[in-house]
Amino acid sequence: MPTPHNSAIKGDIAKTVLMPGDPLRAKFIAENYLESPVCYNEVRGMLGYTGKYKGVPVSVQGSGMGMPSIGIYSWELFNEYGAENIIRVGTAGAIADKVDLRDVIIGISASTNSAYASQYRLPGTYAPTASWELASAAVKAAQAKGCNYHVGNIFSSDTFYDDADSLALWQKMGVLGIEMEAAALYMNAARAGKNALAILTVSDCPLKGLSTSAQERQTSFRDMMEIALETALTVN
Ligand code: HPA
Repeated sequence: MPTPHNSAIKGDIAKTVLMPGDPLRAKFIAENYLESPVCYNEVRGMLGYTGKYKGVPVSVQGSGMGMPSIGIYSWELFNEYGAENIIRVGTAGAIADKVDLRDVIIGISASTNSAYASQYRLPGTYAPTASWELASAAVKAAQAKGCNYHVGNIFSSDTFYDDADSLALWQKMGVLGIEMEAAALYMNAARAGKNALAILTVSDCPLKGLSTSAQERQTSFRDMMEIALETALTVN
């Protein structure tokens, strides 16, 4: 059945879904990497496509920005459309000193300032965690590509423009980078008994005041997309 946010019907969407924040990046991945992509969703412009990568069915769908948005789309993919694996492909700001522009971050855990976990009424602090199977496959793919990558904890924030300027505090805790979606994705995956991972390319260094040009972003995005697609093949 279609949902209020997605006009796909069950069967339209592959077992493994790549999720960029930007729906136009979903279109880019579909058109540049997938064989015979079919667009299954245009509701709210949140484009979704299914095609084949090296003969294996893969979907790619925009998530929008922030945890409420990826929370909706990934919940529906896991619980209404039978998705088993969701791999977020997005951008992050560097937090750790050793993380440079255009590096790739594989987020095995996602700290957060979001209240998303409160819905589960847990008697403690939940630690949103990626799928080890997806993470270890992504590490192998990153090694095979020879790109600079880091594996560790990321910070999923509800704010892009943060009044308190708290990044230095997360830096002290060894957090690699900041983005806005992974924690909710990891919680939805855990609750549904499914698998998730965020693979991020570093688009800016907020603590150093650096950012990439649009052209540079395109190339490092390609590394990340190719790592995600190769990862998708391992869980088919
Ligand atoms: N903050 C939050 N999300 C981001 C950033 C950032 O600096 N860069 C890329 N995504």
